[in-house]
Amino acid sequence: MSVNPQTKSATKAGVIGWPVAHSLSPALHTYWLKKYDLEGSYELLPTEPHRLGESLQTLGARGFCGANVTVPHKEFAAQAMDHLDATAAALSAVNLIIVRQDGSLEGRNTDGFGFVENLKAGVPGIDLKDTNVCLLGAGGTTKAVAYALLQEGAKLWITNRTQSKAEALKEQLEICAKGDIHIVPWSERSLALEDVKLLVNTTSLGMAAQPALSLDLDRLSTDVVVTDCVYAPLQTELLKNAKANGCRTVDGLGMLIHQARPAFRAWFGVDPQVTDELREILIQRQRELST
Ligand code: ATR
Repeated sequence: MSVNPQTKSATKAGVIGWPVAHSLSPALHTYWLKKYDLEGSYELLPTEPHRLGESLQTLGARGFCGANVTVPHKEFAAQAMDHLDATAAALSAVNLIIVRQDGSLEGRNTDGFGFVENLKAGVPGIDLKDTNVCLLGAGGTTKAVAYALLQEGAKLWITNRTQSKAEALKEQLEICAKGDIHIVPWSERSLALEDVKLLVNTTSLGMAAQPALSLDLDRLSTDVVVTDCVYAPLQTELLKNAKANGCRTVDGLGMLIHQARPAFRAWFGVDPQVTDELREILIQRQRELST
């Protein structure tokens, strides 16, 4: 097994999901491995749900220093970890696994970190403290983003097609984080935009092959920042319309890139840079994957 002299661990990593062929993570980590001239590899690990437990338990034995976890396995993976960091424990979901020297599995969740870092990179100096944020959605992505925003001191207005899910999410968040959380009926989502300073789409609406997001942006003042967790397409209709409205926008690709930084650092010992060249490579890879 090859070993990284800095981290003294195996140098093989990958992404566990089902399906996972569409993942940009191999292109992302392979770019950094080459850039920093490190020994290592990153592979797709398509894993059917009934094989997940076994796959996680044998990660170390198969020579992996860790793995990313993606849909639909993040919650189950959290239950299978020997250790969880505070964020993964709060969210009961893991997107990053580190195989420790003693073979035990540590789970972390860096999705919210990726979201906030992307926002701060896109809008330098943005202050989220006491900022009113409208979050569209109530799924796993929403939970990670909402938790990170609450940690930053933001106030949340959550709206979701299925209101009971938004209410359940509010209850879960109130157990693990402090802060103001309000629920807005989905039918009134456009009205909820009046006093917000940040609008975030965490639904799958607007994604390629998914329905469009219908939202009236007339109430959005031009000092509102609009960001979309959807990154295929990169410029969603929401971002295009917000830009046409005079708002600053941040696309979702950076969230994916920034969430990967702590993983790369933990596995390969280097805090990697987010460069324009990397973005271009991933945009190109996304094009290839969608044709
Ligand atoms: P993820 O883990 O990526 O967040 P998810 O948990 O499946 O994915 O969440 C998808 C989100 O997109 C949910 O908020 C979902 O709304 P529901 O909770 O009502 O299902 C939202 N979504 C998906 N399709 C939608 C649609 N056609 N209209 C409105 N919201 C939709």
